[in-house]
Amino acid sequence: MTIDSQKLRWVLGHFATGVTIITTKDIAGAPFGLTANAFTSLSLNPPLVLICVDKAAQCYSCFVESNVFTVNFLREDQEGISRRFATKGVDKFAGLNWHEGAYGAAILDDAIGYLECKIVQSYEGGDHTIIVGEVLNGLAGGGRPLLFFKGKYQRLPSM
Ligand SMILES: Cc1cc2nc3c(=O)[nH]c(=O)nc-3n(C[C@H](O)[C@H](O)[C@H](O)COP(=O)(O)O)c2cc1C
Repeated sequence: MTIDSQKLRWVLGHFATGVTIITTKDIAGAPFGLTANAFTSLSLNPPLVLICVDKAAQCYSCFVESNVFTVNFLREDQEGISRRFATKGVDKFAGLNWHEGAYGAAILDDAIGYLECKIVQSYEGGDHTIIVGEVLNGLAGGGRPLLFFKGKYQRLPSM
């Protein structure tokens, strides 16, 4: 017997995370992306991170085809961007401030930081695929993070 998916989702919701927008591109170079909190650092030497992408995501094939992704760490006032990138079928980049990174995936101008990655491995992970990226470049600046806890967006208390 295993845990049912509703209970699993509820328990997992008690693990607080940051919120990222993971971007990639299609073969024509058009930007794609999704909201993700299944992101973790993996190795410093070599520099590796991993993300988990739903095989049913519309942008899933773009990761496979382009072989690149960028992880953008959202700022506390970017909840609207997170909601937009978690919604299927909308024009996610309309009116957004972003620019193309050196490897073709979008960098959100107001994110706290970002990591540009080249995909080096992928592993089966149930209904998701675990994608390991070698970090080619990264930058971080000021700002406070957007958090996700118990199915709700949260912010750090002001000190
Ligand atoms: C806070 C939050 C975290 C999420 N984390 C992930 C994730 O790590 N991996 C994933 O595949 N989808 C995740 N999702 C769901 C996707 O953002 C959503 O299904 C998105 O629309 C999929 O991309 P698509 O529009 O290309 O289908 C998350 C959604 C939210 C709101």
